[in-house]
Formats: sequence, structure tokens, C-alpha cells
Amino acid sequence: MRARLERDFERFKRELPSDVAGYIRGAYRIDLTARYLGRTLPHPVGKGSGQLSLSLEQLETDRAAGLAFVVLKTVIAEDPAGERSMGAWAVHETRMKVEPRRSASDREGWTVTWKGRGWDRSFDEYLALVRAAADYSRSGEIVAVPSVKYHLPRLGEPFRTEEYRYTTQRLSQAWGDEELPLEKDFSPTLAGDELAEERSQILRWLREVPGHVRAVAPAPVRLALKLMNARFDDAFQLEMLQAAGSADALVVFNRLWDPEQGVAFGGYDLSDRNLRVLEEARQSGLSTPPLVGTGNVSTGRLILDYARLGCESVQLHTFFQLPLSEYPATDGSRPQRALHALLFEPRDGLIACMLDLEGEGLLERRDGELKFLDLPKTVAASPRRDKGHKGHKETHSSFPPREEHN
Ligand SMILES: Cc1cc2nc3c(=O)[nH]c(=O)nc-3n(C[C@H](O)[C@H](O)[C@H](O)COP(=O)(O)O)c2cc1C
Repeated sequence: MRARLERDFERFKRELPSDVAGYIRGAYRIDLTARYLGRTLPHPVGKGSGQLSLSLEQLETDRAAGLAFVVLKTVIAEDPAGERSMGAWAVHETRMKVEPRRSASDREGWTVTWKGRGWDRSFDEYLALVRAAADYSRSGEIVAVPSVKYHLPRLGEPFRTEEYRYTTQRLSQAWGDEELPLEKDFSPTLAGDELAEERSQILRWLREVPGHVRAVAPAPVRLALKLMNARFDDAFQLEMLQAAGSADALVVFNRLWDPEQGVAFGGYDLSDRNLRVLEEARQSGLSTPPLVGTGNVSTGRLILDYARLGCESVQLHTFFQLPLSEYPATDGSRPQRALHALLFEPRDGLIACMLDLEGEGLLERRDGELKFLDLPKTVAASPRRDKGHKGHKETHSSFPPREEHN
């Protein structure tokens, strides 16, 4: 297997097999089946919302590269008159800087420095992209999902229902008859805003936003909340996870906020924090909706780290934006080169890491296969404590994972 992996790593530097997950299943008996917002995916690697999912061309490149899913850039919600309570987030800024970043733990990673925010073109243009995303998703080749930033009130203020209604209805119409998959973004710039200074205010948003979206949607919506790294401690991140229990999935956690420079950042500080909080969630026996990892996913080993702590898929941004010299592949689009490194790198790729776990006796084959969705079983779960997390729906993942999860 190891010799084969070395050979595949070399020969796929020029081009990946067209059905990469099928190839891996046949060659290594590794089943990478993953999940995102209730959808079954051939493998766990998707693209997070941002500047790399603004256009049809980018979507087409991602489909051709074999990414499992893409989240479109976040659009700022509006009401029928075109009023946007979160209009400050519709900033036009094209300049992005991709730079190395050393973490507090002294590891060098990458970050993208950018002062922009949400979608900065018209809502109609966004809806055209959503229609195309729905067609792609129907074709079964890639799942492509819209993302929104809706009104977030101060404590004591009501939610602006008209903004929720109008935006959700138009997205739903553009999507078509099927259930609308949707992400609601709580961004790092929001974490840095005075709106997010109060803990109880943030917790109210997380508790109430899913209900507001569902109440106004003309057809069923499957809603993921993309949680921010708030400016508080780890214990508050756990409170956020708990408060967001009525969502259908949680994306954990968006980038960190640097108040001095006024920018969001990533790198190993981000993955260290995210993994630490997920570990704490697991240790405390917290039950959450299904999780999707985000933050510095730049190796298969990091995919594995997020997956072992319960993430059923991962969404990346920065790793799709590196200088070409950073990828071992010699040809192909950036998403294709990224997939090659994430899956086939002989030491830190996902295949190598899953074989390592098998070698350590931590991951067992079922029906002859190693299964990505079995990874949470490889971390010893602490005894389940009832911490009073009530009101969760049946679809929620729990630690240790229930059988129907596998
Ligand atoms: C330039 C840039 C723009 C982004 N814009 C959005 C956005 O509009 N909505 C959103 O939910 N996340 C946005 N993100 C967050 C990414 O989707 C991703 O979750 C985050 O960067 C962590 O992953 P990474 O370390 O792989 O970049 C953005 C990230 C970057 C770097």
C-alpha cells in the first residue's frame, strides 16, 4: 500500500483520476464517503465561502477538479425595498494578500489578508449564480450552496422579518422545488464589530436565527450556521455550540480576528484553537448538530484531526490560494493540486494518515474497508455526562457516534 501510495503521488502530479474517490476505494479499500448538510459526498473536501466562489467559471473549475462541495460567497440579505441592515458588510475590495503566518505554537502556515466583506454586486446577480449552483447540485457532480448574512438585532430589538422573508424566498425560488441548502455566516468581521460585544446577544442570534429562517421559507430549508471565533474564551465557544443546537449543521469555526490590524486571519493559530475547542466539546460530552470543519486545512492530517473530533467534511479557502510552487503537483488548477496533496501526500495525506491509524490498531476495516466516517471512533470518548443539552433533534451527532452514523 505504501509503495503504491508513493507511486500514485508521483504519477498523479500531472492529473488526478476523474473519479478520485472511486479510485481510492478500489486501490486502497478506503471509503472516503463524507457528509455536508445532510448530503452524502464521495469525499470530505469542499470549498468554503469567499472570493474563490464568486463566479460560474470558478464553480466549473471546482467541478472539473473533483471538489465534493462549494459554498458560494456570502450575500448580504435585503428586504423588498433593497434595504440591507448588514449593508456595512457589502464592501468592494479586490486586493488580497496571501502571506505566511507564524503561529503562537511556532508553526508556519498561510493566511489571506483582505479588507473586503460580503458579496458586492446586485442580489439579482447572486440569484443567477444560485440557479447555476442548483443545476450543478442536481447533476450530482458537485454540491454548491448559497450563503447569507441576515439581520442580527441588538438585545431587546426584534429581528427584521421582512429582510429574512424576502431574501429566503428569492433564494428558494432560484434554487427550485427541492429543499434549499443554506449557510448563515457569522463572520470574523462580525466578531470584531461592536454588535458582537455582548455574549448574551450572540447566544440569542444562534438560538433564534434558524427559527426565523425556517418560519419565512416557502419550502423546506436545511440550514448550517457558520460559527465565528468570538472574542471570548474557549468556554464561550462551547456555549455557542450549545446555543446553535437547532441548526441542521455547524461549520466550526471561521477565522480569528486581529483587533490591532483590523483583519481576519488563519494559519495554525486558527486550527489550534478550533481543534482545542472541538476536543473540549467532545470531552464534555456535548451533543451538537453534525459538524463541518474549517480553518487551516492544509494537509490530510488536519482533515483527519477535524474528522476525529466529529467533522463529517471540511471546507477550505486559504489552501486553494497558495503560490503554485507550494503544491507538489506540476499541472492542473489549484483545487486539483490541492486535492492531490491533501489525499495522496505519502506522509501527511489523508490516505497515509488513515493507514497510520490502521497500523496503530485505532481504525478497523469494516467489510474490508477503512471508512472516513468511522474516524470519530478512533478517539477515546469520555463517559457521556448529561449536561442538560436538551431539545436537540434526532439527526444530531453525539459522542461516541451512534451506529446509524456509520
Ligand atoms: C478572503 C476571504 C474571504 C472570505 N469570505 C467569506 C465569506 O464571505 N463568507 C464566509 O462564510 N466565509 C468567508 N471566508 C472564510 C472561509 O470560507 C474559511 O472558512 C476560512 O478562511 C477558514 O478556512 P481556511 O483557513 O482554509 O482559509 C473567507 C475567507 C477568506 C480568506
